[in-house]
Formats: sequence, structure tokens, C-alpha cells
Amino acid sequence: MLFIGPPGSGKGTQAERISERLDVVAISTGDIFRANVKGETALGVEAKKYMDAGDFVPDSVTNKMVRDRLSEDDLGTGFLLDGYPRTIAQVDHLDEILATGEEKLDLVLQLTADDEELVHRLLGRAKETGRSDDNEAVIRHRLDLYHEQTEAVVAKYAERGILTQVDGIGAVDEVAGRLIAAIEA
Ligand code: AP5
Ligand code: MG
Repeated sequence: MLFIGPPGSGKGTQAERISERLDVVAISTGDIFRANVKGETALGVEAKKYMDAGDFVPDSVTNKMVRDRLSEDDLGTGFLLDGYPRTIAQVDHLDEILATGEEKLDLVLQLTADDEELVHRLLGRAKETGRSDDNEAVIRHRLDLYHEQTEAVVAKYAERGILTQVDGIGAVDEVAGRLIAAIEA
């Protein structure tokens, strides 16, 4: 399963809950990059240049990281990807990985919210956690990239008939309930 949505739409918040509930592994490319930045690995040093500016880490780097993560042996009954793929080249790469393992995507859930709500949420988080990409200029750039590149990914999964849109506005529990209903449907 994939969770897709603009910055601040609640992908991480909801992936944590839903993965626990379904007992599947949640994999967030943003979290893996941040762990590498923190650990000052070569991958982290490379990724940080892009993340601080709100740019996508290059597909070649991101794709390899996801391939490595999906080859680990803790995936069992399935996985929930948060924040990948977000370019068409990443969709193609994920297709290839899944085809090799004779796996398929069951569902893509798109969380929606308007840009002003998203900016408001992320500026709120900036005060609490100080994520280095949560300042207004960078937030707006991340939103622009979502509209420019990731909406094409959403359209592609819609064409395949596996996309469900879920309203991301409301209390966290309420949104989780909508996601569960969409999964059960
Ligand atoms: P990533 O970490 O994925 O950041 P993002 O996509 O910008 O999304 P966020 O994590 O900010 O938001 P979220 O949707 O997870 O919302 P959250 O639950 O946190 O990626 C970071 C960077 O890594 C990218 O910019 C790029 O550089 C790189 N990267 C990652 N993946 C990549 C890829 N595939 N290719 C290339 N580069 C990649 O919630 C946000 C806030 O809102 C929180 O404070 C939360 O408490 C609050 N909130 C959540 N739900 C609600 C609600 N219902 N009501 C009110 N507030 C809420
Ligand atoms: Mg997140």
C-alpha cells in the first residue's frame, strides 16, 4: 500500500497508526533520509543538500535506497510506503522491484488538504520540532514540487484503478477512520 499526499497532509502521522493496526511495516523515505542525516552517513550528507532546500533527492539515490530497504527480510505480510514514489521515474522503478518479487500494489491512498492548511500545520510543527525544511519559503517550494511532479504520479495510479482519495482535514482520529474505511472497502 502507498500513502501519497502533499507535505503536511498527515502521511507520517497516519502511516504510524495504520501500520500498527494492520501489523505491516511502514517505510518513510523522508524518515530514512533524516536518520542518515543524523548519523552523518554518506547518503545523509548527499541527501541533506536537497532536503534543506525542499528539493527532491535525485531519483537514482532514492530508488537505490528503496530497493535496498525492500530487500530486507522484515516485510512479511506487506508494507506501507509513505512518500515514495513521488516522480514518474520512481513509479517505474517501484513497478520493477515489485515485478521481480512477484508482488503487487493493492491500494494507493491519497490524503488531501488545501495548501493554506498545510502551510499552517507545518509552521506549527516548525515551532515544536524544528525540522530543517519547515520554514515558509521551503514549505511552499515542497508544495510546488508536489503539484508539479507528484500529481502526475497520483494520476497514473488513478488510471490503474487503485487510487482512493481520502479527505485529510479533520481530527487525526477522524482521518484514520476514513483511511480504515477506504482500506476495508
Ligand atoms: P518527507 O519527510 O516525506 O516530507 P513531506 O513529503 O514534505 O511530508 P511531511 O513529512 O512534512 O508531512 P506528512 O504528510 O508526513 O505529514 P505529518 O504526518 O508529518 O520528505 C522530506 C524530504 O525528503 C523531501 O523534501 C525530499 O527532499 C526527501 N524525499 C523524501 N522522499 C523522497 C522521494 N520519494 N524522492 C525524492 N526525495 C524524497 O503531519 C504534518 C504536521 O501536521 C505534524 O505537525 C502533524 O502533527 C500535523 N497533523 C497531522 N495530521 C493532522 C490533522 N488531521 N489535523 C491537524 N494537524 C495534523
Ligand atoms: Mg512525513
